[in-house]
Parts: sequence; C-alpha cells; structure tokens
Amino acid sequence: MLIIDGKKVSIDLKSELKVRVDEHRAATGKVPGLTVIIVGEDPASQVYVRNKAKSCKETGMHSSVIEMEASTSEEALLSKIRELNDDPDVHGILVQQPLPKQIDEFAVTLAIDPAKDVDGFHPENLGRLVMGHLDKCFVSCTPYGILELLGRYNIETKGRHCVVVGRSNIVGKPMANLMLQKLDATNCTVTICHSATKDIPSYTRQADILIAAIGKAGFITADMVKPGAVVIDVGINRIDDPSTKSGSRLVGDVDYDGVSALASAMTPVPGGVGPMTIAMLLKNTLQSFERANN
Ligand code: GUN
Repeated sequence: MLIIDGKKVSIDLKSELKVRVDEHRAATGKVPGLTVIIVGEDPASQVYVRNKAKSCKETGMHSSVIEMEASTSEEALLSKIRELNDDPDVHGILVQQPLPKQIDEFAVTLAIDPAKDVDGFHPENLGRLVMGHLDKCFVSCTPYGILELLGRYNIETKGRHCVVVGRSNIVGKPMANLMLQKLDATNCTVTICHSATKDIPSYTRQADILIAAIGKAGFITADMVKPGAVVIDVGINRIDDPSTKSGSRLVGDVDYDGVSALASAMTPVPGGVGPMTIAMLLKNTLQSFERANN
C-alpha cells in the first residue's frame, strides 16, 4: 500500500513557494503578505494561527496576526476587514473560525474582498470553482491540498468514481466540485454522502477514490471500502489514549489499521491531508500577490 505523505509534499511545496517569493523580492522588493484575524482565545485556534504565521515566515512571506477580544462586535470586525481590503500590502485575509456567537460568520465571509479571500470561502470563489473558472478563484485550502496530493502521486482519477463523505462548505462541497471538474487531476463521477444518507456503506463500497470528511474517529471501517481503493482521510479527531504521554492522540475518520490492509493508497493522520492545508494557504497568498502585481 502506498502511503500518501502529505508532510513531505507540504515541505517540498513550501520550498518551491520560497523560491518564487525570493524571486519576487529580488525583482520588485515586495513579498506576499497574509493577515490573520483571531477573535477571542480559543486554544485550538491560537495554535492554528501561530502555525500559519510560522509557515508564512518560513517561505519568506510577510505575516501579521490581529488579535481581537472575544467581546468584539460584528461591526468592529467588518470595519477591520474593510481596512485590510484597502491595504495594498495585504494579499491574503483570513478570519479564523469559529467566531464568537455575536458575529455572523457568513457576514464576515461576504465582507472579505474575494481577490484576497485566500480561504476560498467567499461565494464568488466557491461559485467560480463550481463553474470551472479555477484560474480566477481561490480554492478552499483542504480540498486544494487533496487535489495537489492526487496530482503529485499521479493517481488516476479520470472516469473513476469518487465518493465524498461530508458536505461542509469548507471541505465536502468544494471537494466534490473539484473532483467533478474537467481537469487532469479530477474528471471523476462523484457521489456525496452525508448524515442523512441511508446506507452509507453501500456507496462507499463503490468508491475508487474515497474521501472521508465526517469528523468522527474511525467512521470508515474496512468493510466499507472496496479493495484497491484510494482513501483520503480528512479527519482530525483527538481520542483518549492512556498509553500515550499526553493521554490522548490524533486519529482520522478512517480506521487506519483495518483500511490500510486493503486500500491501494492512503493518507495517514497525522501527516496526510493536515500539513497540506497550510501549504495551500501560502500558495493561495502567493497567487493573490501575483494576480495583484501582473
Ligand atoms: N478554522 C479551522 N480551519 C480553518 C480554516 O481553514 N480557515 C479559517 N478561516 N478558519 C478555520
């Protein structure tokens, strides 16, 4: 079985991005800039934001983090976003989710200039993706990372059946639409399953490429997978494990031990899809910079 090594690919990709950033710096004195806004003190979000800023610096991009109090009003956040929309040194704007209850996440998504929406959450970007205008849009980082992995591992997709389990706006919907596109790395027949699907295994067993984005530890078991399938695990779930030092560990949505015995290729957790997400955020930020300067 082929282990799809997202950690390695993300490191390769980041060094490729660094070369391009260095070229821009040498040619113009300018580099891409990403601004991340975090509202409140959610510990998991703080870790994500710190990692995003660190990776930005590693590739030579500029990064800044704006920390706003948990009590911030929606208007104050929207006003900050408008300021960043008008700042020519900011090429990417990311508002870390989840947001406190008083703030409407969709209003925030709509306020970000689609040309700086490196998360790919704005309806203009998702709409362009659905319509196949990929050259002008930003693709949500996790599905985009999966596309990059399939491409770099030369996984045959054309005419194959891809089953996506999960229908979130951030992963499931953009993922299914990417796999449907007339692209070299996609061109699949696509099925989407979700929490109201009757008999999910009857669909997953038909998958040549199975993408699990459910958010439930070990949901996909060996009896749900066709022998020889390519299995992509988007899940990041923390489970109790007294045998570890911290008392817990990260697992995916796929039962790795059972499924790896019959899959032809598979992403591990950790070290599969996860590391690709930040790398694609940086790729989107560089893309935004290049569009703005061309
Ligand atoms: N929270 C968890 N993942 C993400 C992400 O990719 N983007 C944003 N904006 N918030 C998140």
